[in-house]
Amino acid sequence: MSRKITGATLVAGVAGSPVRHSLSPIIHNAWIEAAGLDAVYAPFTPPAEGFRRFAEGLRGGAVRGLNVTVPFKEDALAVSDDLSERAAAAGAVNLLVFGEDGRIRGDNTDGVGLLGAFAAQAPGFDPAAGPVVIVGAGGAARGAAAAFVEAGAPEVRIVNRTVAKAELIAEALGPKVRTYALDAAADAFAGVSAVINATSAGLLDASLDLPLEATPPAAVVMDMTYKPLVTPLLARAKELDRRTVDGLEMLIRQAVPSFEAFFGRPVPTSMDVRALCLAAIGGQA
Ligand code: ATR
Repeated sequence: MSRKITGATLVAGVAGSPVRHSLSPIIHNAWIEAAGLDAVYAPFTPPAEGFRRFAEGLRGGAVRGLNVTVPFKEDALAVSDDLSERAAAAGAVNLLVFGEDGRIRGDNTDGVGLLGAFAAQAPGFDPAAGPVVIVGAGGAARGAAAAFVEAGAPEVRIVNRTVAKAELIAEALGPKVRTYALDAAADAFAGVSAVINATSAGLLDASLDLPLEATPPAAVVMDMTYKPLVTPLLARAKELDRRTVDGLEMLIRQAVPSFEAFFGRPVPTSMDVRALCLAAIGGQA
């Protein structure tokens, strides 16, 4: 990177642990450079028990804002003075903005990222057109369920190994959310317009054999994991001729409103950050 850091350089960043492999610095710094901004986006690794102290110290805007990733999303929710509606629905914060008034605003851009990825990679997909199924019941699954309820999905089906955790999401989000055990996945998959894997770390390997063939031919299959880019689930979906959406597109799309919140301007369209990210994760197409 050849750009200069000056006394006026704006700072934003990502906080996580570990954060070394985060693609967010690659994405945001590419946009900063393309937009010609005097700004920098840096990685931060606060100590395990020290996130709140770290974030409190940034009140007033010494750092414009932070993307927050594992394991600090709950701490980020707790430290927020104001919560956007979508962060409250998702029950998680992945974006903190430090206002000049000293307040900390918590937001969640994962839902925008998820629906944006569908719009980009499955053109014409309508989240309101039919039931969708989400596999997993952690924070990522709740965020996805909240986004689809908000987007008008007539029904959101949560399939999870531990049904009690799925039921917590249904309690939080209301009657459109229905829960299924993993061994009832074929029932859950019938008639859906989309399947979304929101289990942790791309665990949908051969050991978790999801009945994708029970979905209608027009169903779109999405995996939030992007290492590898084509996960075993997406590979099977392609074999079955289903349209697919990948987790890298979601990551890039969730970064867009973050950039706008940090720097008060739109993301430059001239920069293909997906190609940069693909190069960084090993060039899988
Ligand atoms: P996140 O915050 O990223 O969503 P999480 O809260 O740890 O992560 O949730 C992980 C999800 O992956 C859970 O739904 C978990 O199932 P349980 O609720 O039954 O624990 C699911 N998961 C993890 N490993 C799994 C596996 N081997 N088979 C099936 N589901 C798995």
